[in-house]
Amino acid sequence: IVAFLQPKSLAGKRVVVTAGPTFEALDPIRGITNHSSGKMGFTIARAAREAGADVTLVAGPVHLATPRGVTRIDVKSARQMLEATLAAVPRADVFVATAAVADWRPTSESGQKIKKDGSGQPPAVSFTENPDILATVAQSDRAKRRELYCVGFAAESHDLQTNAKAKRERKGIPLLAGNIGPLTFGQDDNQLLLVDEHGSQELPRAPKLQLARTLIAEIARRLPSNYK
Ligand code: CTP
Ligand code: CA
Repeated sequence: IVAFLQPKSLAGKRVVVTAGPTFEALDPIRGITNHSSGKMGFTIARAAREAGADVTLVAGPVHLATPRGVTRIDVKSARQMLEATLAAVPRADVFVATAAVADWRPTSESGQKIKKDGSGQPPAVSFTENPDILATVAQSDRAKRRELYCVGFAAESHDLQTNAKAKRERKGIPLLAGNIGPLTFGQDDNQLLLVDEHGSQELPRAPKLQLARTLIAEIARRLPSNYK
């Protein structure tokens, strides 16, 4: 009951979240993707909505229900995700990039199914680096002026502290959340390391909804308009 009486920490704010994997087509029936379930991003969208924000969720291909009250835009490829994100962020106060964007896409997409040619030789596939959605948004004037607060996620297999700190700086973002521990996909709980300009802080292992609420509170108190 007390929770309902408290002012919501993101009331009147607009939040954009990317979530899930991307799918990079090779031909009409094949492509490359990854094991991201999208759960963390969907849960953050839900927590932001509960905190009073107007939330747009840009989702790669996942099998998850849209959190209540959240506007969802479905995309497949990294380039579509970039386009949808760039359309949404000019009105946003917060951008949270949780998507596991494919780092590379096949350089060309065949219009027809690639067939075996009988030679026993597999087709040669070359890759092109995808746009970095978070870095692109973080370089915008509004992000640099902190009118748009950008948050990144990092799943590292090793040296989380060092890699997360370096990644935060490389992306030019104020806050980065690193997944602590073994790479796990689709699980309902998680453990995060938060890295900002002051250093790092661990959020203990907890169900994703609880962690998402804590992360939203941590973001809310860092927004320039909420400085006390
Ligand atoms: N990200 C993004 N667009 C990309 C790649 C990553 O928006 N093309 C975002 C992710 O959503 C995440 C953050 O950047 O919030 C870090 O993603 P990660 O894959 O850990 O970083 P990379 O820069 O791709 O570096 P690497 O995978 O080589 O560690
Ligand atoms: Ca990557």
